Amino acid sequence: MTFVADQRPAFGGAPCHRDMALSKRRNKMARDRAPTDNLVIAVDGPAASGKGTIARALARHFGLPHMDTGLLYRAVALKLWRWGGDPGNEFETLRACNDLGFAPDDPELRSEPVSKIASSISAYPTVRAALLERQQAFARQPGGAVLDGRDIGTVIAPDAAVKLFVTASAEVRAQRRMRELMARGMPAHYDDVLGDIRSRDERDSGRAVAPLRQAEDAILLDTSELDVDQAIAEAIRLVEERIAAA
Ligand code: DC
Repeated sequence: MTFVADQRPAFGGAPCHRDMALSKRRNKMARDRAPTDNLVIAVDGPAASGKGTIARALARHFGLPHMDTGLLYRAVALKLWRWGGDPGNEFETLRACNDLGFAPDDPELRSEPVSKIASSISAYPTVRAALLERQQAFARQPGGAVLDGRDIGTVIAPDAAVKLFVTASAEVRAQRRMRELMARGMPAHYDDVLGDIRSRDERDSGRAVAPLRQAEDAILLDTSELDVDQAIAEAIRLVEERIAAA
């Protein structure tokens, strides 16, 4: 988890992972669950809402593997960018989906140009289809998984046991992104960051295929007024409540 100047954990991104160091907790969770249990937790929400931080914390808490599905779109965008390919060309973008290997901690995956390209190429239906099976296979693994993205609860894992839709006001998200950028030594203008967040929201919610939207059975978690520890505690509480009710 990233730390910013005020030493409070910031909402920030990190790769998909299997947290082997926490295998003890996972084993306990596995013992507590019935053998047929398959706990899939879908976490969706807009950019900088805190969904990635929350998803990772849920994965640790419940002893589950986690996938940040945004990284797949970012990896395609980065590959295309490095090739000098045209993000306006769907066919070229689709070629970049082949043999998609990437280093999750490559800092360029989270750079601004790659973020913009990822947001625009994620509207291509063929690109979404090419990345679908990888995400669904991850969600289907025995024991379950936590996935975060934009369409997990609606398209990738519509039968997920628990769905969270994590959001926050655009202004709060812009402030978080500013802190993240500053912590990485990349100062930016608040108005530009807010403008970028708003246009990404529009692109992610306005596309024809798998737009960002709250699934009907998803629980809304607004983190605008919460710090990271409060947001995580609330997410855990909501998931436990949903499991207990099932
Ligand atoms: O979550 P993120 O900001 O890292 O995602 C990068 C882009 O990928 C985002 O603009 C939208 C797209 N994306 C998507 O369309 N569907 C997903 N499940 C995850 C991300």
